[in-house]
Amino acid sequence: MDAIRKTFDEWAENGRAELMEIEHGKNVTKFLKTIPFAKPFSFLDVGCGNGWVVRKIAEEKNCRKAIGIDKSKKMIKQAIKKKTSGKEKFICTDIQSWQHNGKFDFVFSMESLYYTNSIEDTLKKIFSILKPGGQFFCGTDFYKDNKATAKWANIMNIQMHLHSKQEWKKFFKEAGFETKTRQIKELKGNKKWKREMGTLFIIGQKPKR
Ligand SMILES: C[S@@+](CC[C@H](N)C(=O)[O-])C[C@H]1O[C@@H](n2cnc3c(N)ncnc32)[C@H](O)[C@@H]1O
Repeated sequence: MDAIRKTFDEWAENGRAELMEIEHGKNVTKFLKTIPFAKPFSFLDVGCGNGWVVRKIAEEKNCRKAIGIDKSKKMIKQAIKKKTSGKEKFICTDIQSWQHNGKFDFVFSMESLYYTNSIEDTLKKIFSILKPGGQFFCGTDFYKDNKATAKWANIMNIQMHLHSKQEWKKFFKEAGFETKTRQIKELKGNKKWKREMGTLFIIGQKPKR
């Protein structure tokens, strides 16, 4: 089994999936609150873990369907167990090989893209499954400018692609997105990097035509 799948299968069973929900929850919630979700929409979470973002989004009154995908079978098992509405669907697959018909209004991903074999190919795939005008929200705490998190790669001992904010922006542009970034900080956070650097969100919009 590949090392990433094995690691996150373990995390699904040892409580770290719920720890990620807590650790990522504040900044992701703060970010998602800035998105109006004003019209009926479909939503995909890439690397959904235990499915907490999918459950949160399914509560939006305009949400028509919210899909979570993850390559860890045990994360998906957890997510299915925690389902709270019929709008939610969870699929065990690698984003890069996922065969999907149909397109989404919004794609989201938190702390997942840098584990994929190729960020560039994954971005092309996400671009292809977005509707024209659709948006991709990509959150990462692990980025070069955020010096405190760079050491995570040694602790994890699995493939993690470390890039700067500028490099992320370049990948998004090369995949065809109109791109901007936001750093969401926790001003009263317990960690210095959360107060000073925060979570980097790269926001990619697929051009309308
Ligand atoms: C750090 S966890 C983040 C989980 C969740 N987004 C959260 O914030 O709690 C990364 C997740 O991405 C998944 N993942 C990694 N590479 C993937 C890939 N190529 N396709 C689908 N899922 C992937 C892992 O299995 C893991 O559950």
